[in-house]
Amino acid sequence: MISLQGLEKTFGLNRVLRGLDLEIKEGETITIMGGSGAGKSVILKHIVGLMKPDKGRITVKDVDITSLKGDALNEIQKQFGYLFQGGALFDSLTVGENIAFGLHNLRPDLARHWKDVVAEKLGLVGLKPEIAALKPAELSGGMKKRVALARAIAYEPSYILYDEPTTGLDPIMSDVINELILGLQKSLGVTSIVVTHDMTSAFKISNRIAMLYQGKIVALGTSQEIRHSTDPLVKQFITGSSRGPIQMQVRAIE
Ligand SMILES: Nc1ncnc2c1ncn2[C@@H]1O[C@H](COP(=O)(O)OP(=O)(O)OP(=O)(O)O)[C@@H](O)[C@H]1O
Ligand SMILES: [Mg+2]
Repeated sequence: MISLQGLEKTFGLNRVLRGLDLEIKEGETITIMGGSGAGKSVILKHIVGLMKPDKGRITVKDVDITSLKGDALNEIQKQFGYLFQGGALFDSLTVGENIAFGLHNLRPDLARHWKDVVAEKLGLVGLKPEIAALKPAELSGGMKKRVALARAIAYEPSYILYDEPTTGLDPIMSDVINELILGLQKSLGVTSIVVTHDMTSAFKISNRIAMLYQGKIVALGTSQEIRHSTDPLVKQFITGSSRGPIQMQVRAIE
């Protein structure tokens, strides 16, 4: 289980997390939804120790990782796959090298036959093995996303964090990714934490959905509960209406 307790994080004057509590159960797929800039990516970065909270605690299977550093933090990070928003591929490496990037360090047993691992993971995300020789600049946006996903699952982590896995993909490819997330949960018992604005995807893949608003989780329930929620915040978000309690700041660019 991953437990986030009373997380607070402020950047300058921007209070992003304001006492956030959330428990993630082993083996579940949980989606965090919330507006742009609400702090969803910031939460994921805290879970893997890339950001430290100003206050509060993060535990992974009862290990307090809040103040871990160096090798001790590395050991925990080995259990996590992270699909970064935007992919974060290394432009100077080939697709294959990108996918195999963490293997040497994290899974030396797999690193010995890394080319097979690359081909297998490319297959899982619906790409041909020949893609391995290309550079990221030669790929479409959707292909980059799938390569980044192949990299996140290459070393077979027990927890996978997906930051907007279907954004920018066509509906069919989005569903391929949905099925892949579901498949990893079923076949490997992976625990998935997904950040998305794509409600079709959220309802399809999630056991539970959490809504982030003003630095806290303001709603949490099963997919069904959230879908039928009468909470005005949740309803506004899932119907995508600009009218309701959530007020977006829109300013003309001068
Ligand atoms: N390293 C940082 N330094 C300063 N401010 C940051 C940093 N990282 C995030 N922020 C700020 O924290 C807030 C939340 O950012 P975050 O990236 O988590 O948003 P998000 O919910 O993922 O939004 P989106 O849906 O647009 O990706 C934003 O206002 C952002 O500017
Ligand atoms: Mg984000």
